[in-house]
Amino acid sequence: MPASQHLDSPGRSALAKAQPAPVGFDNDSDALARGYARSNGPQLRHGRLLLERLALQAGESVLDIGTGTCELAREAAALVGPAGSLLALEPLPERVALAQQSSGDVPGLRFERGGSADLHHYRPAQFDVVFLNSVLHWVADQRQLIADVRRLLKPGGQIGFSAARPDRLHQQVAILEPLLADRPGSGLLVPPHVVTEPQVRQWLADLDLVEGQLELVTFVDHFSDLDHLLLWNASSFFGNFSDELSRPENVGLRAEAERRLEPFREVEGIRLERYLLLATARKPH
Ligand SMILES: C[S@@+](CC[C@H](N)C(=O)[O-])C[C@H]1O[C@@H](n2cnc3c(N)ncnc32)[C@H](O)[C@@H]1O
Repeated sequence: MPASQHLDSPGRSALAKAQPAPVGFDNDSDALARGYARSNGPQLRHGRLLLERLALQAGESVLDIGTGTCELAREAAALVGPAGSLLALEPLPERVALAQQSSGDVPGLRFERGGSADLHHYRPAQFDVVFLNSVLHWVADQRQLIADVRRLLKPGGQIGFSAARPDRLHQQVAILEPLLADRPGSGLLVPPHVVTEPQVRQWLADLDLVEGQLELVTFVDHFSDLDHLLLWNASSFFGNFSDELSRPENVGLRAEAERRLEPFREVEGIRLERYLLLATARKPH
């Protein structure tokens, strides 16, 4: 399989399978939260690009929705400095606990347990910037979420997000999905609410937000082996990723996955591409 292959018919069937699957918030664990803190280099890399686009300023008031174990929030808090503030919101208790342990003493950074459904608790027009890094594709009612974020933004405030796209799925999907196609119910390979560029344009137009940057970006990651890739998936999907390949008893399946990944091996590790939509927009003054 050529290294540039990103989507074929198996990839599409993974997407079709992904659409109706419910996202479980009860499948996370302390081990997965710790795994995420260790393996989230890919999200941190595109998150930094998102923060660059948002050009955070010292003294700004920022909300990070779905902060995970908060490595990106910590960097954002440093950018707004002690005169600014960063509220990091996260629904998974294990991740909030870990974030608090690792970053509870960062000036201006505070954590609350909550998610997209809780935004109505917050005072309107209080944030300069709200961002969601690799979170929107987990949320079923995305338009409502963006409307809620708009309410929280000050006039002139910005929203920024990164999300997976349906037109180009992570390169691993085309590699692994054929192995898992006849094992229904084992979990997701693709986040359930991937986001298209026309959809984003429509939301921004409907909700009176002024488009900033809207980019389709390709990232390259390296994984040391199959288990590293599976750790990244399981922890990024907070326990909702297909677990078939992680089961030690599935020896043959794991060997076949390793065989399929081998052509992608480089000196740095197994090279896989992923494709994201990065968007920023502003609430008018
Ligand atoms: C891949 S992690 C990204 C974490 C973090 N933003 C980062 O950049 O490392 C996805 C996160 O989205 C969070 N999430 C999922 N659904 C959510 C929702 N409806 N509201 C808020 N966060 C949500 C998960 O709990 C998880 O921490």
